[in-house]
Amino acid sequence: MKIIHTVQELRAWRKTAGKVAFVPTMGNLHEGHLALVREAAKRADNIVVSIFVNRLQFGQGEDFDRYPRTLQQDADKLAGEGVAVIFAPDEKELYPHTEQRFNIEPPHLQNELCGKFRPGHFRGVATVVAKLFNIVCPDVACFGKKDYQQLAIIKGLVEDLNFPIEIVPVDTGRADDGLALSSRNQYLNEQERAEAPQLYQVLQSVATRLSDGNTDYVALEQNAAAELNARGWTVDYVEIRRAEDLAVARSGDKALVILAAARLGRTRLIDNLEVVL
Ligand code: PAF
Repeated sequence: MKIIHTVQELRAWRKTAGKVAFVPTMGNLHEGHLALVREAAKRADNIVVSIFVNRLQFGQGEDFDRYPRTLQQDADKLAGEGVAVIFAPDEKELYPHTEQRFNIEPPHLQNELCGKFRPGHFRGVATVVAKLFNIVCPDVACFGKKDYQQLAIIKGLVEDLNFPIEIVPVDTGRADDGLALSSRNQYLNEQERAEAPQLYQVLQSVATRLSDGNTDYVALEQNAAAELNARGWTVDYVEIRRAEDLAVARSGDKALVILAAARLGRTRLIDNLEVVL
């Protein structure tokens, strides 16, 4: 496994690499990331994992500065996974100018759901992912369904800008108590960690009501948010959307996804659950 820090060296390696599967990450790897790598391994002999904490996708007051940078531990975790290359550029390598002059502007979806609470976040994600796609030139790229809105935006990016890349969605990895695996879980204190699985439990109870035929989506969303707020969470949103394109769900839609974002103390957690009626 090579660790490559420059675009030039990555491009030189890519020329002779054959079929490549790509897993973009911000590092601080956990089992959820390793699941992405294992999916990638099913699809190509050469796996590239990028590790880059992307300033562009963090808003003011967010955790860019305290986001854990753990390259050596990440490399140790990837060592047994058949990864060919870790691409770990520094900031100057990916953003050589003081400001990124050209950005990828996603459609209106970027201002909904998480985008409403993190203005500019999905522009930052789409921009860095497009850059990484242009550098790595993968045939396949794996993205976790935990970041459902991000996945929808990346699918749109690839389709609209004609990247010749197959996007593979990978199911959310969960702890035994149901909490979605996330680098941010490590910010939770003991009490918050004990409470955190409630987010998924609330999604599961909304799913049960949908399966029972309840179509009052607004009431279901409001009740779920109220339940979390009453337990001490600060809810950004609980929303029921159409799974295919994240459009607002209408009665009669069969493939839905319930998405939620809420804060426990200083930590913002997101989760979602697909429901097929
Ligand atoms: O999902 C992430 O970790 C990041 O948003 C990504 C896709 C690596 C872009 O920085």
